[in-house]
Amino acid sequence: MRVAIDGPAGSGKSTIAQMIAERLGFLYINSGSLYRAIAFLALREGVAWQDVEKMINLAKKHRFDCLSDGSVIVDEECLKEELRTPEVDDIVSQVSAIPEIRAEVNNIIRRISEGKDVVSEGRDITTVVFPDADVKLYLDASPKIRAERRYRERLSKKASTKEEGAEADSISIEEVRKNIEMRDKLDAQKPIGALKIAEDAIYLDTSDLTIEQVYDKVYKILRARIAHGR
Ligand code: DC
Repeated sequence: MRVAIDGPAGSGKSTIAQMIAERLGFLYINSGSLYRAIAFLALREGVAWQDVEKMINLAKKHRFDCLSDGSVIVDEECLKEELRTPEVDDIVSQVSAIPEIRAEVNNIIRRISEGKDVVSEGRDITTVVFPDADVKLYLDASPKIRAERRYRERLSKKASTKEEGAEADSISIEEVRKNIEMRDKLDAQKPIGALKIAEDAIYLDTSDLTIEQVYDKVYKILRARIAHGR
């Protein structure tokens, strides 16, 4: 069975996809992490994202795999926290806009999924990667709520990595919101793989819902689908 989830940053799709995958014993594939892994390798290997030919070679020369905790295995190396740095944040949108890189990532996702039950999430999973998915969901929330969620995430990450008494994150909620709006714009404008709501996707606005409430709704939808023979 294939479950495809799309939505903008901060819509809750990664958390929900991971919870659902764990509950149902499905493989979780975070496509954004694959774009992030390629961006990370480019930075480490000194390849400029503007050099499309080198970027394509870079993506082709490594072997990628996904683990259900959201980390990416590149060759023998496991990458997780490295994929969420400000340096990777800065170039990942541009990397993901390269059509050949998108084709490569889509091939990786399809290869990893072969013969497995999967929950995959991103921006174009319901429309491009798995247009024939058994269940398609589009999670959304207002920019204000998404910015608040990302801001709180940053604060809790800082709190868990810094010593006691450390100062709060220096980035303001307004800056987080601007960054989200900028990425929404870039994602919507991509010539290939732009974020869109698939015609047959179930649309869920999560603005006024807790993660548990979203999870309950999504789980019920999936149980009903499974009970009706997918
Ligand atoms: O979801 P995220 O922030 O980890 O995604 C990282 C970047 O990759 C983001 O700029 C959107 C892009 N992306 C994409 O273009 N297509 C996907 N299927 C997933 C992510």
